Amino acid sequence: MKKVLVTGGLGFIGSHTVVELHNAGFEAVIIDNLSNSSISVLDGIEKIIGKKPLFEKIDLREKAAVQQFFAQHKDLVGVIHFAASKAVGESVENPLLYYENNLNTLVYILQELSQIPEANFIFSSSCTVYGQAEKMPITEDASVQPAMSPYGNTKQIGEEIITDTAKVTNINSILLRYFNPIGAHPSAEIGELPNGVPQNLVPFITQTAMGLRQQLSVYGNDYPTPDGTAIRDYIHVVDLAKAHVVALQRLLNKQNTEKVETFNLGTGTGSSVLEVIQAFEKVSGQKLPYQIVGRREGDITSAYANTDKANTVLGWKAELTLEESLASAWKWEQKIRG
Ligand code: WQD
Repeated sequence: MKKVLVTGGLGFIGSHTVVELHNAGFEAVIIDNLSNSSISVLDGIEKIIGKKPLFEKIDLREKAAVQQFFAQHKDLVGVIHFAASKAVGESVENPLLYYENNLNTLVYILQELSQIPEANFIFSSSCTVYGQAEKMPITEDASVQPAMSPYGNTKQIGEEIITDTAKVTNINSILLRYFNPIGAHPSAEIGELPNGVPQNLVPFITQTAMGLRQQLSVYGNDYPTPDGTAIRDYIHVVDLAKAHVVALQRLLNKQNTEKVETFNLGTGTGSSVLEVIQAFEKVSGQKLPYQIVGRREGDITSAYANTDKANTVLGWKAELTLEESLASAWKWEQKIRG
């Protein structure tokens, strides 16, 4: 079986991608340092795919450990790199943690890949690089705005590091700019495991519906949008995971037309916070307690993807709806709290 390194493979998107890699006939080798994930995710993946994936607890900030791993795994056909810190607020308070963890690790992996005759690299990027884009829906050639947080800056710098490296190495890369990943595997064996109080909307909603949180605070209803609340493109994590497999196959089949290709991964539909709440109430059959409060520092008004390039060039399209995503998130929340 073709072996693929998945860094951060016990994380939210990483674990779902390990499942889809298996479904496509690949064997994933997971590296994770468990700083923002749980070893129990390995059992969840095993329950879905019927075998325990190869896993090594490695902190990619240790250059020697990265070198040793690649020396022991010379048969990798590709690397999908998720491992990174991703809390916007935390990155403002602790920028050096983010620059070390998100960038040093990327450099160490690229240094190893640059030694390989032909390397295939998929990078987990984010729509956050666009900041508040001028035009909706957002295309890949929309300008990259000055980052609003050290987290966002690490994604921008990461893309630049990959682009500069591609010019002088045999590394072929695809940058995947995610919009807002939500939901969980339909089996409810894996899903999102936020640390502490959820920063993101959907896990906060499901925890509120479970009674773990008193009510949801809606951060602002004075945005220039139809209902005043901010708009995002919520994409089911399983659709997102499948896009990584398609991207890897594109590189393996040498279909890429550039050394570095970029794709927006979203549904192409924007949903406001109130629309997400209404959709959740519909799928859960529960009223969601919420209050409107002030805007959250650093939030943008609207972001949703133009999916033409992903659909026509990458050959991938999100299939699951907002309601299906929310229903899967709710099923997962009930499973882990049940
Ligand atoms: C969505 C909307 C909030 C919580 C972040 C990162 C981005 C990516 C996805 C990593 C916004 C509102 C939220 C709450 C609320 N992460 N909200 N009450 O901020 O769009 O994107 O997560 O790659 O890089 O920036 O996602 O889920 O935090 O917020 O009203 O308790 O929900 O204001 O409008 P966001 P989010």
